[in-house]
Amino acid sequence: MNHEYDPGYGLEPFRALCAEHPDESIYPRDAFRVEWGPIFHRGRLDGSARLLVIGQDPAAHESVLRRILVGEAGQRAQGFLARLGITRSYVMINTFLYSVYGQKGGEAHKADTGIIAYRNRWIDALVLNRSIEAVVTFGGLAADAWKKWKSTPNGKTVSLPLAEMLHPTFPESASGSNTTKLAQNTKRLLANWNQGLELLHAAIQHPDETKDVVPYGEAFQPGDLSEIPEFDVPAGIPPWMRGLEAWAARTGLTPAEKRRTITITIPSS
Ligand code: URA
Repeated sequence: MNHEYDPGYGLEPFRALCAEHPDESIYPRDAFRVEWGPIFHRGRLDGSARLLVIGQDPAAHESVLRRILVGEAGQRAQGFLARLGITRSYVMINTFLYSVYGQKGGEAHKADTGIIAYRNRWIDALVLNRSIEAVVTFGGLAADAWKKWKSTPNGKTVSLPLAEMLHPTFPESASGSNTTKLAQNTKRLLANWNQGLELLHAAIQHPDETKDVVPYGEAFQPGDLSEIPEFDVPAGIPPWMRGLEAWAARTGLTPAEKRRTITITIPSS
């Protein structure tokens, strides 16, 4: 059997972007889990992407797999792209290279010039003279990241349709453990995503598959999440790490222990 894995960061300017990634002098240790390293992207870096997706920050699954949006949030996002017929021609970056730590959730660092300058180099590389036809931002910090790039001299030369969408895990983060609220917030998320589907369906001229828009219902259904494709992950990653069952969790009895521990459990199935 032949496996197609992600080729990594050999192409310029991505090779240089990885080599020059910001460290904890730019991403302070009290607000970011810098000890897990920077996690750069997921998707096509060869210029074939039609859709740019901006997420927020990597979590536990991403810290192990070294590609962004691969856990539940990523599988929801992947399912959203599938509804648009975008099964390959996408590229994703996060607002932050490192996982956010603490209550402030990244808000306190959204105007940090070092963080913005490096992220803008990535957006330049992905958008200028490339084939991107539309942009999706997941959550308020991602929308802010796109606006910050748009206000640069390079950003001002580009006009792309933008879908500002709620973050895939907005329902969970906005609902605590209240199941009624969770249902209401999921309904709100999916209504917002349905608007995004309409906008992007009209904007994307070259989807991988031509599809009619099928809107979401009021709650996520099992088929609404999609597995992460093998061609998006580093060589040798086993299939269960791309599958729909969670396999990584931060564990520990104290905040310090939890910060330095990710427990990996292979799903029994
Ligand atoms: N994982 C990511 O990489 N980004 C998000 O926005 C959420 C989870």
